[in-house]
Amino acid sequence: MSEPRWWQKAVIYQIYPRSFQDSDGDGVGDLAGIVRRVDYLAWLGVDAVWICPFYPSPMADFGYDVADYVGIDPLFGTLADFDRLVAALHERGIRIILDFVPNHTSDQHPWFQDARRSRESPRRDWYIWRDPAPDGGPPNNWVSQAGGSAWAFDEPSGQYYYHAFLAQQPDLNWRNPDVRAAMYDALRFWLERGVDGFRVDVLWHMIKDAQFRDDPVNPDYREGEPDFRRVRARYSADQPEMLEIAMEMRRVLEEYPGERLLIGEIYLPVERLVAYYGPDLGAVHLPFNFNLMWQRWRPDAIMRLVQAYEAVLPVGGWPSWVLGNHDQMRIASRVGPAQARVAMMLLLTLRGTPTLYNGDELGIENVPIPPERVRDPFGIRQPGTDQGRDPQRTPMPWDRTAHCGFTTGEPWLPLGADHAGRSVAAQQGDPGSILALARALLDLRRREPALSLGDFAPVTVEGDVLAYARTRDGRRVVVVLNLEPVPKTVRFSEPLGGRVELSTDSASVGRRIDDRLELAGDEGVIIATD
Ligand code: NOJ
Repeated sequence: MSEPRWWQKAVIYQIYPRSFQDSDGDGVGDLAGIVRRVDYLAWLGVDAVWICPFYPSPMADFGYDVADYVGIDPLFGTLADFDRLVAALHERGIRIILDFVPNHTSDQHPWFQDARRSRESPRRDWYIWRDPAPDGGPPNNWVSQAGGSAWAFDEPSGQYYYHAFLAQQPDLNWRNPDVRAAMYDALRFWLERGVDGFRVDVLWHMIKDAQFRDDPVNPDYREGEPDFRRVRARYSADQPEMLEIAMEMRRVLEEYPGERLLIGEIYLPVERLVAYYGPDLGAVHLPFNFNLMWQRWRPDAIMRLVQAYEAVLPVGGWPSWVLGNHDQMRIASRVGPAQARVAMMLLLTLRGTPTLYNGDELGIENVPIPPERVRDPFGIRQPGTDQGRDPQRTPMPWDRTAHCGFTTGEPWLPLGADHAGRSVAAQQGDPGSILALARALLDLRRREPALSLGDFAPVTVEGDVLAYARTRDGRRVVVVLNLEPVPKTVRFSEPLGGRVELSTDSASVGRRIDDRLELAGDEGVIIATD
């Protein structure tokens, strides 16, 4: 067996920097704020942090509209702050992964400013321009992820430009080699400053059909669903030429020592997702697997997903699991506070690298945002739908002081009414808290190679629970999760011969388990076998 790579054993922690820790009282988190909290990250026991964009940006999409790929927006600090952050993390053995946003720039980026000047501009072809359809309308039926047509008309030049997201986020033309070269140089800039990898934004969108064919209409679309579901993205995304780019990015990372990690943000079902590992695993190390986020919260449904994923993974391809991020409903809101603990156990015991979204370790729920405080452009463009992402982006509560220690000013989004009680300080002192559970799980995962690197196999039991084993070098750990609030009696076909090592309910810890296990409602246990 080859030596595992650092990121196979790692747990990645996602930081949404606007909402993590403010250091200057402007109500928005910043890099110096993250530096203040590195000891918390070390205490929690995460191995790497991925930080959402902090580059210069007009913030039309809160930093996912980049106006300069090699700088820091003054709102977040300076390059010196960044260097301090890298050093502070590395001193504690924590790696740093940046968010790379290559599919589109800001419309304020000098490249786009040049491109839109005229059809003859040197950088015109860095973006995607098309003539209007014969009726003067958009060139095809592609729909923006933010709602409406994905084409914006540029009056002066009489052409449309393509934007998979907001009109302020024009898509780059990745078929142009000059675009590739410029973007790879941006990667090198950060690699030289010591970053350990990148999470690549909307990787599966980066290449579009060369003929710009219409996407097929989605016959299952129902009124009220987000606009982008009106079509099936057959031609506007997930094109085969994408792999070549992912492999080129990987080669850029490999110019540097130390196993720099390439993660891809890819919202696709597992059968398509696995293509992004590339031939001989030479493309993305970890294509993010988001499918658990919409799986029915039932033992059979979750087991089916895990097995379907395991079945299509290429040999040596390492799994990825995600239960939350800044774009999706908080897990604690989706499954409820009691199940959020079980979900944490699931996330941290499946085979593969888990990514944990900041605040989920506190059991934070979606925070209701009054209409006058909505900030997310997706929410503003589609009012009254659940498309706004502010509720999952609210500030981290650190203690019981004003605004829970997040800022001395007015926070850019409100904190939840229950956040003082859910704050880090409140939970650090409570061994029964979800924070204490998350930390214990991270600690056990580090100590127990069967959990971090072991094989996965379902365990057949009587009783409606999710049960699986992780094994490595003769060690076997069995995880049993009750996904319902009612108690369950579980019977194993063969005596397990073990003890409860960790439970969501401390009363069970140390209990001897042979052929039968009594689980409380909403309880999950990890059993170390003899
Ligand atoms: C995915 C990011 O996670 C999301 O927040 C952003 O709006 C889009 N990509 C566009 O960059």
